[in-house]
Amino acid sequence: MRDNYGGFGAERQTDLYLAGLGGQPPSVPVSPEELEAEARAKLPPEAFDYVAGGAGGETTMRANRAAFDRWRLVPRMLTDVSARDTRMELFGRSLPVPVLLAPVGALEIVHPDGELAAARAAAGVGLPFVLSTAASHSIEEVAEAAGPAPRWFQLYWGRDREVNLSLARRARAAGYDAIVVTPDTKILGWRERDLRRGYLPFLRGVGVANFLTDPVFRSRLAAPPESAREIAVLRATESMVDPSFRWDDVALLARTTPLPVLVKGVLHPDDAERALGSGARGLIVSNHGGRQVDGSVAALDALPGVVSAVAGRAPVLFDGGIRRGADVLRALALGARAVLVGRPYVWGLAVGGEAAAREVLLNLLADFDLTLGLAGCATLAEVGRSLLVPEPGTGGPVSPPVTR
Ligand code: GLV
Repeated sequence: MRDNYGGFGAERQTDLYLAGLGGQPPSVPVSPEELEAEARAKLPPEAFDYVAGGAGGETTMRANRAAFDRWRLVPRMLTDVSARDTRMELFGRSLPVPVLLAPVGALEIVHPDGELAAARAAAGVGLPFVLSTAASHSIEEVAEAAGPAPRWFQLYWGRDREVNLSLARRARAAGYDAIVVTPDTKILGWRERDLRRGYLPFLRGVGVANFLTDPVFRSRLAAPPESAREIAVLRATESMVDPSFRWDDVALLARTTPLPVLVKGVLHPDDAERALGSGARGLIVSNHGGRQVDGSVAALDALPGVVSAVAGRAPVLFDGGIRRGADVLRALALGARAVLVGRPYVWGLAVGGEAAAREVLLNLLADFDLTLGLAGCATLAEVGRSLLVPEPGTGGPVSPPVTR
């Protein structure tokens, strides 16, 4: 991204128009729907469905998107937005825009460079990449790919506590800035698209690199993965998540690692309180992209309740259905400090690896920058609840869950 934060959105827009004038339409679809369609055409069906799919009847995925439409923006006129500043600080690092790349497992199924390409694309625009535990490239390899760019590590709390703590230690040693734990995935959701095909990447040895390279995990095996790969892969898959994961474990992790711990998957205000009480330094409102609980509350509908429960004690981030700049703006207006984007960058990887993922991110950021300015805001501090009204005739947004 260029250094001119006053107008990177307009610069991107101009670049695309001028390229078109010169006979060069964008190589990566600008519309998220067309991008997904192109990814679908390129990918093996099982890989596309693994990423695109959700739990059960996929009502949560639809609800995530529908929730955005129940909030409408009310742009304000004739404020000076000539020098927009979208920068913000998060855990001591400066981000050009309040956007992170969400953890997505097994990226090798969409591109051979998987997480390496994603980390490089994120680094290219200065956004933090959140590496999934379930990656095809190790914590250390991804750190090298990301270089000095910020990166976080998402930790599945698995059945072996010592392996969990070892992964957290490796993340710290490899320069990750934060650990994200995901209690929404103590058990894998019921995913009809994958079950129909019997498709789980981990069982095929994809997305288990962090285990196969972990000294503690390896010490548990009778033979090293290099000579008994199938058994190691099976062990990694069956121990990756732990249904008995509890708040005490979050507290243990928060005491053990010097890195800030964020809890991702919080939807109820009481859980926000429990997370903070367990030492979490940040929260991510998320329903795992609709992949875990079919019929779950939409992530955006849960956001205001969590923000109000946290009351400024820690940053609340948002994940769940972000596709365009106006989605980022609405989540920020409802109190999110930053948002995570998942499937769109994965579709970028699918259509053209690192370079295409970077284009996808640049388009999202440009769209956000322009929408911010068009709404009448020059800085993030000006973004607030007064930018929004409920969609008329829909009964408005679903109320946040009642506490206690
Ligand atoms: C794992 O996190 C998945 O959602 O597939």
